[in-house]
Amino acid sequence: MNPHFRRTGRNRRPLSGVLVAATLLAGGATATTGAASAAPAITPAAPKASTLGAQAAQSGRYFGTAVAAGKLSNGVYAGILDREFNSVTAENEMKWDATERSRGSFTFGPADQIVNRALGRGQRVRGHTLVWHSQLPGWVSGIGDAGTLRSVMRNHITTLMSRYRGKIHSWDVVNEAFADGGSGQLRSSVFRNVLGTGFVEEAFRAARSADPSAKLCYNDYSIENWSDAKTQGVYRLVRDFKARGVPIDCVGFQAHFGTGGPPGSFQTTLANFAALGVDVQITELDIAQAPAAAYTNSVRACMNVARCTGITVWGIRDSDSWRVGQNPLLFDNNGNKKAAYRAALTAMGGTP
Ligand code: G3I
Repeated sequence: MNPHFRRTGRNRRPLSGVLVAATLLAGGATATTGAASAAPAITPAAPKASTLGAQAAQSGRYFGTAVAAGKLSNGVYAGILDREFNSVTAENEMKWDATERSRGSFTFGPADQIVNRALGRGQRVRGHTLVWHSQLPGWVSGIGDAGTLRSVMRNHITTLMSRYRGKIHSWDVVNEAFADGGSGQLRSSVFRNVLGTGFVEEAFRAARSADPSAKLCYNDYSIENWSDAKTQGVYRLVRDFKARGVPIDCVGFQAHFGTGGPPGSFQTTLANFAALGVDVQITELDIAQAPAAAYTNSVRACMNVARCTGITVWGIRDSDSWRVGQNPLLFDNNGNKKAAYRAALTAMGGTP
C-alpha cells in the first residue's frame, strides 16, 4: 500500500483514473489523422549512445527524472542520476506547500539544492509547479476574496520564477486544472471558484513577466487519449490562448499509465497539440509493472513528434516511486537496469 494513498485521497484519484482509461483504451482509441509535426527524429548517421540523456541529446531532446532532495546523498541514487539523466524535476520541493508555507514567507533550501546540483553538472531543470490545487497550504485554499487571492497567486509566481530566472528551461505554470470525467471543464478549486476560469490566463501572463526565458507549460494527467473530454478541454484552452496571444509555450503530458501503457492515440494527441504551435513534453512517465513494450510505445510517441522536446520519468528506482508496489520505473530497487530501461534507450536509437 502506498503510504501516500493512506494519507491523501487525492493521489488515488488520478492514478485510478489513469488505470481505468488505460483499460478502456486497450482495444485502441479513436484517433484523428496525426498532424504536421511528426518527423523522423534520429538521423541515420547519429552515433548510438548508451545512456538515456546522451541518446536523447542526439535528437536535441532531454531525458529527465523527478528527484527528491533528501535522496541526493544516496550514492546509488546519485550515481544513476548523474550517469543517465540530463534534466531534473523537483518531485515536491518547488510546490506551494514546500516553498510558501505561510503568506510571504518563502523557503528555498531543498529546491536550491536540487537546482544548483543539477546546473553544476550540466543537467537542465524543469520547474514544478506554481499553481496547483493540491499540496496547497490551508492559508491559500481558505482565501475567499478575489483581490487577495489574485495578489497572493501573482506574488507566488513572481517570487519563485524570479529566484530561478534563467535557470529553468520549462515551468509547469498551472498543474492539473481540468476535471476528470466527461465535462471537459476546469475542476473546482479555490483558484477557479474565487478568481473564475480566467485564473489560468492570469497565471500564464504573470509567469511570462517573471521569467521571459522560461517555457511556460500547462501540465496534466489523463490527457493522453485524444478523444477524451479532458484532453479536448485542454486542447481548446491551448488553442484559445494561441489565438488570443496569451503566453503559453508547452503542454506537459504526465503519462502515469496502467500496465497497458499509452493509449493508441498518444502520438496523435502529441502531434495535434504540437500543431497548435506549442512544444509537448512527457513530464511524469511511469507505467504499472513497467512492461518494456509500453515504455517503447511511450518513448516512440515522443520521438516521432518533432516538437516533443523531452521525456521525464517520475523517479529513478522502483523504490523511489510514489506508486509503491507497482514497480513502474526503469531501475529496480537495487538500481539495476530493467527491461524497460533497455526498451526506452533502444526506442531513442541508443544501445544498452
Ligand atoms: O513533506 C512531508 C514531510 O514533512 C513528512 O515528514 C512526510 C511524512 O511521510 O510527508 C511529507 O509529505 C509527503 C510528500 O510527498 C513528500 O514526501 C506527502 O505526504 C505526500 O503526499 C507527497 O506525495 C507526493 C504527491 O505528488 C503529492 O500529491 C509525491 O511524492 C509526488 O510524487 C507526487 O507527484 C505528483 C506530481 O507532483 C503531480 N502529478 C501527479 C504526481 C503523483 O501524484
